[in-house]
Amino acid sequence: MESGRDDAVATTLDINGKSVAVSAGPETPLLWVLRDEAGLTGSKYGCGIGQCGACTVLADGSPIRSCSVPIASLAGVKIATIESLGGSHALQQAWVKHDVPQCGYCQSGQIMSAAALLATNPKPSDADIDAAMDGNICRCGAYQRIRAAIKDAAGLTPSGSGDSAETAKA
Ligand code: FES
Ligand code: FES
Repeated sequence: MESGRDDAVATTLDINGKSVAVSAGPETPLLWVLRDEAGLTGSKYGCGIGQCGACTVLADGSPIRSCSVPIASLAGVKIATIESLGGSHALQQAWVKHDVPQCGYCQSGQIMSAAALLATNPKPSDADIDAAMDGNICRCGAYQRIRAAIKDAAGLTPSGSGDSAETAKA
């Protein structure tokens, strides 16, 4: 991963409610700064081209692909990473209950997309969930468990018996 430090400038970002001073070139993707400078390694590098969702974080509450957003565009923007959820967020509890992760690589991005959904749509329909989660790719195919966990976190009954069937299959 190129760090972009050749033309580093001092920049302050608002990350998880704190002002974080970083030194990186203005075109450096946010993900590089999160992982290498801020020490927030929950956000993962997958494709690097905005196609997989592994690097998803929130910018003013909306999911963004941090591998593809330069820090120069984030002045004054509130950035939230998976670490901001603290470990006991309703989604994280549901993730544990439904034993969602397989390898786990995609999951912080999945949870941040789900968090953005529930923040604006606390009782999403199946179609709402599918639309919001479209683009967060899971190579392990945990999609049924992801949907079940989102519905559980939202206080909705997961539809069908896919959760247990899928869990057994995994
Ligand atoms: S690593 Fe950012 S979308 Fe794949
Ligand atoms: S759990 Fe392995 S990529 Fe999603």
